[in-house]
Amino acid sequence: MSTDPSDLTEETIFTWGAPPLKFGAGAVDEIGFEMTQFNVKRVLIITDSKINATGIPQRIADSLSAHGIRSEIFDGVHVEPTDDSMDKAAGYAREQGPWDGFVAVGGGSSIDTAKAVNLITTDGGELMDYINKPIGKATAPRGQLKPLIAVPTTAGTGSESTAMCVLDVLSMKVKTGISHWRLRPTLAVIDPMLTMTLPPEVTAAAGMDIVCHALESYTARWYETFDRKRPEERVTYCGSNPVSDLWCERAMTLLAESFRTAVHDGSDLRARSNMMLAATFAGMGFGNSGVHIPHANAYPIAGMVKDYRPAGYPQDEPMVPHGQSVSLTAPEAFRFSFESEPRRHLRAAELLAPDEDKQNEPSEQLPAALTHLMRDIGIPNGIGGVGYTEDDIPDLVPGTMKQQRLLATCPRPVTEDDIADIFAKSVTNW
Ligand SMILES: NC(=O)c1ccc[n+]([C@@H]2O[C@H](COP(=O)([O-])OP(=O)(O)OC[C@H]3O[C@@H](n4cnc5c(N)ncnc54)[C@H](O)[C@@H]3O)[C@@H](O)[C@H]2O)c1
Ligand SMILES: [Zn+2]
Repeated sequence: MSTDPSDLTEETIFTWGAPPLKFGAGAVDEIGFEMTQFNVKRVLIITDSKINATGIPQRIADSLSAHGIRSEIFDGVHVEPTDDSMDKAAGYAREQGPWDGFVAVGGGSSIDTAKAVNLITTDGGELMDYINKPIGKATAPRGQLKPLIAVPTTAGTGSESTAMCVLDVLSMKVKTGISHWRLRPTLAVIDPMLTMTLPPEVTAAAGMDIVCHALESYTARWYETFDRKRPEERVTYCGSNPVSDLWCERAMTLLAESFRTAVHDGSDLRARSNMMLAATFAGMGFGNSGVHIPHANAYPIAGMVKDYRPAGYPQDEPMVPHGQSVSLTAPEAFRFSFESEPRRHLRAAELLAPDEDKQNEPSEQLPAALTHLMRDIGIPNGIGGVGYTEDDIPDLVPGTMKQQRLLATCPRPVTEDDIADIFAKSVTNW
């Protein structure tokens, strides 16, 4: 190997980042103190109406005012945000601003909305300027954003530690995102007590998001197999790497211990706490390495929803929650990716389901562990369970193929026929 870096064509570098964390029961009441460290006077708390009704945002406002910081609560976040809902939130923040900082309190929907509000109100411009190509212009923010403290109330997305936000672009019927390291929250305050009121259906779906983050990150293409990037070309996702792997392995062990209990007995604080740790750990993994086929398939599954209305979620419009949409094709996707990295798939199955009877066929171990888990916690049975039939597959496939950024992280090249086959074999999973 040449010792002159400019001669190298293969990648030799990976990057890894995460915000500082404050974790544990009661952490939410220290937000006022934490905000004083950023020298702010006026803060916008961003949440959704259901979470606002729990009183948690007001508790945060009280903690801020105890430290001399004024705040207001905006509770207009749309569950699974859209360009329209993010624009409305940013419009409110602009009209009522300026703000010196933000607190996002809620699931991925609230945290992602707060990231977008911070970006647009601090850096200027429109959402489309920043949305990933080819849908938007993928412009990089010009400067540092305002302090954003992220306070998750679901154990799932890991959005409190990632550098991206996800949204539906309504006019194009596509889900897409904005990713840039400046979007990463300044601090993550993670208090497992906040998840005690989560309904079992949200616990199950958000938990499957953790499972898929950990598994997809762990089986993602290894960072050294990509073409070499120049420093200014480096992206937030660089493929699986030694640091992300550690977090993902540990997330899987926590999931094995606590996921079923958290769904079936939501009052079990230890299980809730382990799930919150697992979500954070998986976020520190996939937030740097990336995700692949199950998440790419989730975009059209959620974006083209017909009339499915899941229990535990708002009933005013049809939706497939993110955690359900990512899990429905996961067993088949990991059957497909098995041959590229058998040892990692087997290790993941062992960590996630150490007590599972081993299948004779090695490629079946991980899919079997997943389907047994999904049956036990009440996840719909395949894409058929959320209203799709075989006839919908030709319409779903192009939606996946548009997610080239994610498919490039798959450890094996993926064609349209491969994706059609994965959907066809995922109409039912058991
Ligand atoms: N930015 C990222 O890195 C990233 C990663 C994965 C997913 N996402 C996005 O996150 C969103 C999904 O987020 P989510 O799964 O965390 O759920 P969510 O924010 O959509 O909330 C789901 C439901 O649970 C309710 N809820 C939340 N916390 C509660 C609590 N403590 N008690 C009672 N009810 C509560 C909400 O009001 C809502 O009705 C999707 O838009 C998805 O695309 C983002
Ligand atoms: Zn996800």
